[in-house]
Amino acid sequence: MHEFDLFDESITYEHLTAEINTNLNGTIYVTKALLPLLAKQQEAMIVNVSSLLANITVANAPTYSATKAGVHMFSDALREQIRAKGKNIHVMELCPPVISETNLTDTYDEGLMNKMISLPLAKLVNAGIKGMQKNKLRVNAGFTKVMRFSMKFAPDYITHTWGQMILK
Ligand SMILES: NC(=O)c1ccc[n+]([C@@H]2O[C@H](COP(=O)([O-])OP(=O)(O)OC[C@H]3O[C@@H](n4cnc5c(N)ncnc54)[C@H](OP(=O)(O)O)[C@@H]3O)[C@@H](O)[C@H]2O)c1
Repeated sequence: MHEFDLFDESITYEHLTAEINTNLNGTIYVTKALLPLLAKQQEAMIVNVSSLLANITVANAPTYSATKAGVHMFSDALREQIRAKGKNIHVMELCPPVISETNLTDTYDEGLMNKMISLPLAKLVNAGIKGMQKNKLRVNAGFTKVMRFSMKFAPDYITHTWGQMILK
């Protein structure tokens, strides 16, 4: 999750697009490479990791959400193509909020907001495994569920409030 200022003239095009290559293109390339092998199995599953930030953007990391919204859309399209081909491959999208005990939280302070939106790693793993057992299409873990629900009702207001809160 790269933070950068779009007005900073020293930011290169390579820096701007690096996480698109890792998060989105990487997911697409690995999926494409493994699909023939998975299609030969009796049953298989692909789990793509998107994020709470597939639902809302953070202004200080302006391309991260674009990559995760891309992972979300790619997973939906992939699932439909697999269905159309009659293959027994499940596609599940795992959408974590901020996960405590990962290096992402090292960069955040211990404010109330972060306590509210973060989830312990063990709980994410449990939710992910339960989702896989039930062949869920999507696991919106912890605060992601709240965000996904809220964004259906007031997307512009929430995006603006959240964006300004983080930039100040
Ligand atoms: N941490 C969170 O709070 C959080 C929240 C929501 C979503 N997510 C998502 O969950 C996933 C894992 O996050 P994490 O926090 O566990 O991240 P992490 O600890 O930084 O791990 C990222 C992994 O990606 C690999 N990687 C990074 N750049 C790569 C590249 N260019 N080519 C190949 N591999 C590369 C790293 O490999 P090396 O170990 O070899 O460097 C590492 O195994 C990510 O998709 C992230 O967006 C995380």
